[in-house]
Amino acid sequence: MTAGLEVERFDPACATEGDLRGYYRVMLARQEIDRPDEPRLTYEDVLGRLENPFVGFGPVVYWVARLGGEVVGLAIVYFLEEESGHIGLTEVIVHPRVRRRGIGTAVLKAVVPELRARGRTLVETWQITKGSDGERWARSLNFRSVHTVLMQALVIPGADSALWQDDVPAGYRLRRWAGVVPEDLVTSFAAARNAMHDAPLGGLGYEEPEWTAERVRAREAELRRNNIELRAVVAVHESTGEVAGLTELELHPHRPFWGFQRDTAVSAPHRGHGLGRCIKAHLIHWLLADRPDLDRIYTTTGAGNEHMIRVNEQLGFTTVRTMVAVNRDLAELEAELRTR
Ligand SMILES: CC(C)(COP(=O)(O)OP(=O)(O)OC[C@H]1O[C@@H](n2cnc3c(N)ncnc32)[C@H](O)[C@@H]1OP(=O)(O)O)[C@@H](O)C(=O)NCCC(=O)NCCS
Repeated sequence: MTAGLEVERFDPACATEGDLRGYYRVMLARQEIDRPDEPRLTYEDVLGRLENPFVGFGPVVYWVARLGGEVVGLAIVYFLEEESGHIGLTEVIVHPRVRRRGIGTAVLKAVVPELRARGRTLVETWQITKGSDGERWARSLNFRSVHTVLMQALVIPGADSALWQDDVPAGYRLRRWAGVVPEDLVTSFAAARNAMHDAPLGGLGYEEPEWTAERVRAREAELRRNNIELRAVVAVHESTGEVAGLTELELHPHRPFWGFQRDTAVSAPHRGHGLGRCIKAHLIHWLLADRPDLDRIYTTTGAGNEHMIRVNEQLGFTTVRTMVAVNRDLAELEAELRTR
């Protein structure tokens, strides 16, 4: 291991400005190499994400690696809950200036005891840029490549708004809301969300939640606590009054010019009528009427999910990056790391 390297837990709430700036420099350098499609991260963007971790993935814990007192590497671990409570969603990032010196491996070694202490049995990572140092590192540690995901972006300035035609197929009507699902729809909305179980997830350990009205309400409350604005559009089947399809988007307070597209699902009996495209187009229309300053919307889709990818392309999204997800059984990883 690199002489003088120290790895320890990191609490952003009581971190020094020097450490926070070091953390930012690592994130920025990774972005420049692995995510050149994104607008350059600012220091405030990175602080904002530390203050507003992703919602719905459980508690998050951080580690940093310091060399000569300067932060040169980090780990971000979300301890997923419920159906996915066996997973530690683990991201390790090392500044390119000091890669291939064992720092990434040392950070992972520091994380592993906490994964074990919290009852995890699987270490999983979702967003490694295909062909990057991260993919090669994961392969060298015998992580299994289990899923490929496309990152697609709709860049609003210059986009052709004619693509967002939202003519509603006969037999359906649209409803929409910000924040809270209307009470008359919540049960059927939860049932429709379970159509996400049909989305291809490859060999991921992650399992889509089993949605109920209570879980929908709990998620809404968590988003509110984190000042995240949630917008949803659904297609309601006229003759039954049931939600046939839904799409959701989050607006995060620290990155006000980006929309994060979340779940889109059409339940099986209602597929093939163009509902997915219609509800997504309507969401974009509605959002831009209120937020003409929005710069872009990001969405991730399984590489094998041809229908969703095509719908996104029809709406003007382009693929900006391919990412791989990897995982490894924790006990196997512990044994592997003992040899390093
Ligand atoms: C992945 C990452 C954290 C690795 O950090 P690192 O400090 O360079 O990793 P290590 O020095 O511990 O690498 C250990 C071994 O992995 C393999 N490895 C790491 N990077 C590699 C590369 N670019 N090409 C080939 N093998 C590589 C090597 O076998 C290496 O041992 P060696 O240098 O003795 O040959 C770093 O590349 C990174 O920050 N990438 C961006 C973020 C990311 O994709 N993380 C992925 C996992 S969450």
